[in-house]
Amino acid sequence: MRALTVTPLRAGTAEVRELPDPVPDEGELLVEGLALGICGTDREIASGAYGWAPPGRDHLVLGHESLGRVRSAPDGSGFSAGDLVVGVVRRPDPVPCGACARGEFDMCRNGRYTERGIKQLDGYGSRLWTVEPSYAVLLDPRLEHVGVLMEPATVVAKAWEQVDRVGARAWFEPRRVLVTGAGPIGLLAALLGVQRGLEVHVLDLATGGPKPRAVRELGAEYHSAGAGEVTERVEPDIIIEATGASRVVFEVMAGTAPYGIVCLTGVSPVGRRISVDVGAANREIVLENDVVVGSVNANLRHYATAADALAEADPDWLSRLITRRVPLERFTEALTADPDDIKVVLTLD
Ligand code: BGC
Repeated sequence: MRALTVTPLRAGTAEVRELPDPVPDEGELLVEGLALGICGTDREIASGAYGWAPPGRDHLVLGHESLGRVRSAPDGSGFSAGDLVVGVVRRPDPVPCGACARGEFDMCRNGRYTERGIKQLDGYGSRLWTVEPSYAVLLDPRLEHVGVLMEPATVVAKAWEQVDRVGARAWFEPRRVLVTGAGPIGLLAALLGVQRGLEVHVLDLATGGPKPRAVRELGAEYHSAGAGEVTERVEPDIIIEATGASRVVFEVMAGTAPYGIVCLTGVSPVGRRISVDVGAANREIVLENDVVVGSVNANLRHYATAADALAEADPDWLSRLITRRVPLERFTEALTADPDDIKVVLTLD
C-alpha cells in the first residue's frame, strides 16, 4: 500500500513509500482512502516543526483530514462495505483524565491524548487504512466529492458550540458574526453562521480569487480592510478568528459589541512581537463582559453536528472550497501553499 510518511521533527523527510497493507484488528473497519485534506498542521509536520511518530519507530503516516469508502466491516459494527466514512482524529489519553473519561477528549487535560497523522498514531494518508467503528463517522453518500471537508467542519462545529456555551451565561441573541480568515476554517465557520440565520461578515486579505466569491455566494459580506476598521463598522456580537495572525487576533479581541465572544481557532507562529495596549484591551473586556475562548480539535458530538451541517449545505458551494486536487505521488505540490488556495486535497484512489 502506498502511504505518505514523514519522520517528525526532521524537515524534508516526507515521502510516498510502500508499506504493508494494514490488517484490521478485531472489530475494526478496513477502509479505502479516497482523499486527504492538507492543512497548516500537515505543512508544519512536513517542515519538521511538529508531530510525533508512533512509539518505537521513526516514521508517521501523515494525514488527519480523511475520507474513505468502507471495504470491509464486521457484522454488528453499524457499517457496511461501500459506506462513505471519515475517521476521527483524536483518541483519549490512557489515564484517562476526567474529560477523556467522559468522551470530551478534545478537552484533554493531561496532554497525553493521541492523534491520527499528528501524534503517535498513523494517519489517513494511505490507500488503505483501518479504524475502530466508534471512531468512524458515516457520511451522506452525496458528500462523496466534498466529504474530505469534514474534519475542518468538526473544528468549526466545536468552535460554534463554545460560542453557544459561553453565550448561555446570560441573555444572548446574537445578530452579527465576523469571521477573520477566508481559508477552509473561516469559510466553514461562515457557512455554519449562515445556517444559524446570523448576519455573516468575513474578513480576509485577498481581493480576488475564489474567496470573495465563496463568501458572497453564501449571502455573507466580504471585507478586505483592516480588522480594527471592520470591527468598528460591523460591531459583531461574535468573532471567529481563523487567521492566527497576531495583529488580527489582538485587534478582534477589542473589537466586539458588548457581551462579545471571540473564539480563537488559529494556531499562531511564536516569536513574532507586536506592540499592543494590553490595558485598553483589558478594560474593554472587563467593562463589556467580553470573553475570549480558544478552541481546538473536536469530539464525536462535533463530528455529528458537522456531518449534518455538510449534508444541509449546497454541495456545489462546498466543492468550490477545494481549489486543488493533487494525486498522492505529487504530494510536494500539495504541501506547498499557494495564496489562491482554499483547501488542497490529495487524491488517494
Ligand atoms: C487538527 C486538530 C488537532 C490540532 C493539534 C489541527 O490541525 O485539526 O484536530 O487537534 O491540529 O494537533
